[in-house]
Amino acid sequence: MKHDTFLPHSAALLLLLFSVSATLVDSMGINYGQIGNNLPKPEDAVPLIKALGATKVKLYDASAPVLRAFAHTGVEFVVGLGNEYLAKMRDPDNARTWVKSNVQTYLPATNITCITVGNEVLTMTDESYIPHLVPALYSIHAAVVSLNLQNQVTVTTPHSLAVLQSSYPPSSGVFRRDLTGCITQILNFHANTSSPFLINAYPYFAYKDSPKQVSLDFVLFQPNQGVVDPGSNLHYDNMLFAQIDAVHYAVAALGFKNMPVHISETGWPSKGDADEAGATPENAKKYNGNLIKTVCNRKGTPMKPDMGLNIYVFALFNENMKPGPTSERNYGLFKPDRTPVYNIGIDLSSIGSGGSGGGGNKTSPAAGGGSSSSGSPPSAPDNGPSGYLAISSGTTKVSSSSLSSLSFTLVGGILLLAARLLSA
Ligand SMILES: *[C@@H]1O[C@H](CO)[C@@H](O)[C@H](O)[C@H]1NC(C)=O
Ligand SMILES: *[C@@H]1O[C@H](CO)[C@@H](O)[C@H](O)[C@H]1NC(C)=O
Ligand SMILES: *[C@@H]1O[C@H](CO)[C@@H](O)[C@H](O)[C@H]1NC(C)=O
Repeated sequence: MKHDTFLPHSAALLLLLFSVSATLVDSMGINYGQIGNNLPKPEDAVPLIKALGATKVKLYDASAPVLRAFAHTGVEFVVGLGNEYLAKMRDPDNARTWVKSNVQTYLPATNITCITVGNEVLTMTDESYIPHLVPALYSIHAAVVSLNLQNQVTVTTPHSLAVLQSSYPPSSGVFRRDLTGCITQILNFHANTSSPFLINAYPYFAYKDSPKQVSLDFVLFQPNQGVVDPGSNLHYDNMLFAQIDAVHYAVAALGFKNMPVHISETGWPSKGDADEAGATPENAKKYNGNLIKTVCNRKGTPMKPDMGLNIYVFALFNENMKPGPTSERNYGLFKPDRTPVYNIGIDLSSIGSGGSGGGGNKTSPAAGGGSSSSGSPPSAPDNGPSGYLAISSGTTKVSSSSLSSLSFTLVGGILLLAARLLSA
């Protein structure tokens, strides 16, 4: 904890609170994009990520301030190598230098476990990066091996769902024919290096494109009849699982039956332009809230019921400098002032007091002075059914209401205990 305004009292409480969520959370990840000129310091993102119950963070670069701020937090990191560096990485010396200075230097204090080489390279309008992708994957992996980090760090690359020719019904999932050669090489790379295939999947786009045809409940994980895939007879009650299974089918069709598929991005915007149907805070809250419940229940997809869901929500913050339609700047769970964009059940008064450097009451943005933290113990988290702390405390197959009481008992008990210890 780097803030000198941080009172030891609340620091200890926060640490205890954090360790509760850290030990119980399984695999929820979040994308930490930084295309904004008003974003908080990385130090101030730490308590937000802890409050979410996220244990994994994905970056689009290897931001030194972020990686340093998260040292000794137990949070796992995915770091990204930008598309613009792919060509240079064909040279083994460049690859080794990149891995040394962007990965090795932070280990072991910051737990970097994955490097993404490029982002959505195969579906970019600028196709000039494509020929460099597979060589860069091998080159970065060779660098990782030469630094003896192969048991710590996997190497992979995220794809947009647009790599699929067909995605619905899921059993019809196949890759675009023109990409099959390249994707086969990528799948060979994954098979040979035990790394996962990454997909960015947004049911929101499907809804936005056909709001009249696509059921909102189906895309938002709300109760609905679902659909049966006539090719597999599997029943789907949400679109994300249908999209993930379409990828599993496409991968299997190329002969890779047990390839792990991870979701490197999914999310829902809270705001959009007039022609962006469905981009509202209510829908974003339902999508992300229900998604996180689903992840924490560890229910696999219909096709791969035993393969854990490995999902990174997009994104931590609204990013005001992202180009494109309004929705692009409104995927965040948090505003740059660190308040939630919509109430998803996180009680930040319990985390924010002290954890963000003194600005306990976020309605008074005078956090810089750091004098507003009174050192009073954080209050117990909000007992709402979609509380992150409640959800993240889940073990398998427990209903969310019993999860809530479990975690409140737990968190409350530890806080009481801590308060006693500290006042003794
Ligand atoms: C880093 O994360 C991996 C994957 O969860 C875990 O196995 C490992 O123990 C972590 N290492 C440290 C130093 O925390
Ligand atoms: C990947 O592994 C397969 C099976 O061991 C092998 O045939 C293939 O040559 C390998 N490819 C590369 C590029 O290492
Ligand atoms: C935070 O500030 C608002 C507005 O000044 C005030 O109404 C509220 O009571 C404060 N909350 C706390 C916990 O101090």
